[in-house]
Amino acid sequence: MLATAPAKLILCGEHAVVYGQPAIAVPLPDLRATATVQAGAPQTGITLAVPDLSPEPIRDPQHPLIELIHATLATIAAPTTPNLHLTVRSNIPIASGMGSGAAVATALVRAVAQWGGVEIADATVSDLVYQSEQRLHGTPSGIDNAVIAYAQPIWFVRQQPAPLIEPIQIGAPLHLVIGDTGLRSETHRPVGAVRQAWQAQPETYTALFAAVGDIVRQTRTLLALPQPDLTSLGALLTANQHLLAQIGVSAPALEHLIGVALAAGAYGAKLSGAGWGGIMLALAADSTHAAQIAAALRAAGAVQATPTVVQAHG
Ligand code: PMV
Repeated sequence: MLATAPAKLILCGEHAVVYGQPAIAVPLPDLRATATVQAGAPQTGITLAVPDLSPEPIRDPQHPLIELIHATLATIAAPTTPNLHLTVRSNIPIASGMGSGAAVATALVRAVAQWGGVEIADATVSDLVYQSEQRLHGTPSGIDNAVIAYAQPIWFVRQQPAPLIEPIQIGAPLHLVIGDTGLRSETHRPVGAVRQAWQAQPETYTALFAAVGDIVRQTRTLLALPQPDLTSLGALLTANQHLLAQIGVSAPALEHLIGVALAAGAYGAKLSGAGWGGIMLALAADSTHAAQIAAALRAAGAVQATPTVVQAHG
């Protein structure tokens, strides 16, 4: 029994999305978390091996991932708690804005559902992973679990009682380069700092978030075009970066890589995810151009620079 889930990239709208503005995220199918399930030894309950992190399996019933497995068993109405041994592996960089935690959780939920022989809806997977992420990160917007569970480009708006999640149209393949600063950044730190700043200066921050929302709406329209207008699309991404810097979540290492990508001819570039470290993205014309930008980023100190293609969709 094997299930997988992709990494993700927030194209635009991070941070403002926490305050009700729309954001756009895409899956990254080449980076994945994989979970397998086997029958466990009698009386062992649920055990979870994470060989990349520790030689010893996790058994603590209060560990968030064990709790998630129990929540999934309850959702699929498993009659009693079985003895199950799960193993999870991932090649998604940790704490760099690519959704490694949500991908691991999604792969586990899907593996348990498969074990139970139950078809599980993307929305149910997304809800289960969101509840688990809340225990770990406080108040995430829910965009990570949504794009990873749906595994397609999405438009996401945090709202009550349930978020709006819409698959979006991508009219032509989008050539991106993801540059990693190598600085790990835990999402809750910049998210907490933005909350404090918003509380201290509500009008300024509400206006910044609204300006991000406008950019995200324009980006959606441009993404749907069959003949992409890369100049306009890139300008929107760079404008989003300027707002993120004003919101206070950029960092010198991010600004450096963004400058290098633009100097190498990228149409636009911005940080992606929570900021203060982690990754940036740049928009390229095609795969040759993307390879050139990636080489420039590596030469400038990016610990990784990976071209990726968001395929046309919808
Ligand atoms: O660090 P990441 O990639 O999980 O991105 C966080 C995105 C934020 O908008 C900053 C927070 C959130 O919960 O949406």
